Amino acid sequence: MDNRPIGVFDSGLGGLTVLKEINKYLENEDTIYFGDTARVPYGPRSKETIIKYTFQAINFLITKNVKAIVIACNTATARALSEARIQFTIPIVGVIEPGAKTASEYTKNNIVGVIGTAGTISSKAYVKAINRRNPDIKVIAKACPLFVPLVEEGWANKEISSVAAHMYLDELVEQGVDSIVLGCTHYPILKRTIGEAVGMDVKLINPAKETALYLKKILEENNMETQSTIKGKCQYYVSDINEQFEEVASEFLKREIEGLKKVEIHKY
Ligand code: DGL
Repeated sequence: MDNRPIGVFDSGLGGLTVLKEINKYLENEDTIYFGDTARVPYGPRSKETIIKYTFQAINFLITKNVKAIVIACNTATARALSEARIQFTIPIVGVIEPGAKTASEYTKNNIVGVIGTAGTISSKAYVKAINRRNPDIKVIAKACPLFVPLVEEGWANKEISSVAAHMYLDELVEQGVDSIVLGCTHYPILKRTIGEAVGMDVKLINPAKETALYLKKILEENNMETQSTIKGKCQYYVSDINEQFEEVASEFLKREIEGLKKVEIHKY
């Protein structure tokens, strides 16, 4: 048994989509969220830079005495998860394997779309993870670099997002995908807009739920679950405080973001 909190991080708001599922499936666990808002987006950055940012986020969360870390960012998972697991001894969970598992179990016609940042798509991490499970699945991967800034700007449900969704996704629908993995943790915030663009016949797969269930399994296997019987609390940290974070985060989580603190992440 271990009552310490779980550390969760992303480049910005996106990881909240994973935090929400952790709060749902591991409801008594305390959490510490870090959004690297001063350096978002991670998508276009080099592997080397993402590794540096990821290690800094993990070092910071370790100073907060966390018992496990969730890299709630596909780009950081694709670019830095293996390196982080070598560097640190703390259990670290990423989002790509859980997303690949859900997609390969769901698809009926074996044509799966994967959308993500330029970094995630060019790493081919999803294609490899899905084809390791089932080599017969055709994976059509597409980078959608405008989606992250649209979410961070609080424009997820505006027309401009709908136009971008059609421009990026019409070709996936034309190629017959029966499902699309939301391979960036920001994208579930755009779920309604993306869903309207691709239509009801295409299932949108959010890896967050499977990630939370995987984390639960890891904690159980290592006898690290909390003993608390009350609902867990979350502390929020960002590397730059801006109005949108609190606004979009409270709207998405349907609760107030209390006590948001700034962290000088480059010092870690
Ligand atoms: N939310 C992140 C992801 O899952 C990162 C987006 C970004 O910063 O470009 O990839």
